[in-house]
Amino acid sequence: MTDDTIEPCLRRIAHAAPDRRPELAVVLGSGWNAMAEQVQAPLRIPYTELPGFPHVGVDGHAGSLLFGHIGEREVVLLCGRQHAYETGRADAMKGAVRTLAKLGCKALVLTNAAGSLDASMRPGELMLINDHLNLPQQSPLVGEPGSARFVDMGDAYDPRLRATAIQAAARSGLKVHQGVYAWMLGPQFETPAEIRMLQGMGAHAVGMSTVPETILARHAGLRVLAVSLLTNMGCGMEKESLSHALTLSAAQEAAGRAAGFLASLIAALEL
Ligand code: HPA
Repeated sequence: MTDDTIEPCLRRIAHAAPDRRPELAVVLGSGWNAMAEQVQAPLRIPYTELPGFPHVGVDGHAGSLLFGHIGEREVVLLCGRQHAYETGRADAMKGAVRTLAKLGCKALVLTNAAGSLDASMRPGELMLINDHLNLPQQSPLVGEPGSARFVDMGDAYDPRLRATAIQAAARSGLKVHQGVYAWMLGPQFETPAEIRMLQGMGAHAVGMSTVPETILARHAGLRVLAVSLLTNMGCGMEKESLSHALTLSAAQEAAGRAAGFLASLIAALEL
């Protein structure tokens, strides 16, 4: 892996958080921010202090790394991600994912908000991603040297981590679906024809993130678990029209449940 921003990031982290050794990293997507409140012994480092981390500015909050504990487990949360639709590039999270792998993390949990393509999966429910469609056909590994770039994507979404997640959901009495996530570049939502196309291709949910991070994580040797919070039905499946505000308010409503599930899941994962 070539990336000369990683060493400066590691040095900054070693200075600001010398005794932190997280084995698990979690990217918080839209609707998952409530999770940050569950972190004990929190220590924050803004992305602006970490070269190689993206510059994100959602609603005035710059991104940050949040070190701490959830139950017995030492974690680092990535509060804020950059999407490919912001720059046209799929490698925005490259420095971040590689820094976390070098820091000793074994697994990356990715969270997002997504539209449901399946009438039986309703807004407010969760879906574990078991596979994806990279529809923009963009890769964060373009230009990467060496044979390691030919990453096996066969079990990109770790079956053992998924099995643990399903048990954790059952214990907390939550319904969790599994399915295929279709990555669309965005930032516009899909048309009804695109939604029908995605359904025909075998996708169960659609969103604008996560897939580049999964590819980066597998390339860096991290195991991946990814969870979508379904905030709406795909465009044209129901009468209401889509907006970012609708997505956020649906996410807000389910935020407590989603965070509770994630906390119990994080405690249960065997790394
Ligand atoms: N499409 C794409 N991305 C999304 C959606 C959607 O319907 N909902 C939340 N993120």
